[in-house]
Amino acid sequence: MPRLAVIGHPVAHSLSPAMQTAALREMGLAGEWTYEAIDVEPNEFRRTIGQLPQGGFAGVNVTIPHKREAFEIVDDPSDAVRAIGAANTLSFGGGRIAAENTDAPGLIASLPESPRGRRALVLGAGGAARAAAWALADAGAAVWVWNRTHKKTERLASDIGVRPVQPEGMNRALAVSRYEIVVNATSVGLEPPGRPGADLKALHVDAESFTDKHLLVDLVYGESETELVRAARSGGAQVVDGREVLVQQGAASLRIWTRQEPPIDAMRRAIHAKPTDEP
Ligand code: ATR
Repeated sequence: MPRLAVIGHPVAHSLSPAMQTAALREMGLAGEWTYEAIDVEPNEFRRTIGQLPQGGFAGVNVTIPHKREAFEIVDDPSDAVRAIGAANTLSFGGGRIAAENTDAPGLIASLPESPRGRRALVLGAGGAARAAAWALADAGAAVWVWNRTHKKTERLASDIGVRPVQPEGMNRALAVSRYEIVVNATSVGLEPPGRPGADLKALHVDAESFTDKHLLVDLVYGESETELVRAARSGGAQVVDGREVLVQQGAASLRIWTRQEPPIDAMRRAIHAKPTDEP
């Protein structure tokens, strides 16, 4: 009976076990495959991964904070994993570990239409931002990146081949009007905002700039709307919730492991029934 899991730290609030178990049930595989959450501290990650194949695991999703280390320890990273520098889907077989990054196709699948030819702004420069910037560029968008710490913006931009938003623009609010797609790949919004406007200020985003020409993807979600989502909606922008990206990346992982088509609607129902969050 092949086992699957999500490995993170902390991981107790992950929505993946409920979502993937619902999918396996709907696919008629619940008697065959299992999916659980395993909390692993960073200094135990490599050792734990090494033991999983003997424990009957066929593969795992890797989440915060292990995605970059996952890339470093695997035998066969995909081209996308190499380019992004982070992995979230590992498969065990023949004594080797293969790695994919389904955050990238998950983001593209969650968009209402192809980003080809669109101008996209990615906020952030961590693992999530690297996957988002790479995915959008690979799908044909023109991608700019902004991050609070500019050094990391430059590193991401040169590693992935996208454009940094220059620091002289950082004292002013970001000109959202220059872009058609905005992706929040920072952790801003995970905590409930302090003062009204604090999150928008942290992201240098002008709340008034959003119009019905914009698409906002906020990878952060929780029980209530983030300040960024609220600002975008009130300007008339279309919004993709981080939950949809979670569903699509989870479906892409299940496709890799089971080689079957996952039931996206059942996965959406499973996570919308649960109000907790997962970065
Ligand atoms: P992940 O792997 O999910 O991307 P991460 O690597 O910890 O997580 O990245 C978090 C991102 O959120 C970073 O881009 C971080 O900016 P810095 O590089 O300047 O740290 C961004 N971030 C976190 N808190 C922030 C805040 N209060 N204001 C602006 N950006 C913030």
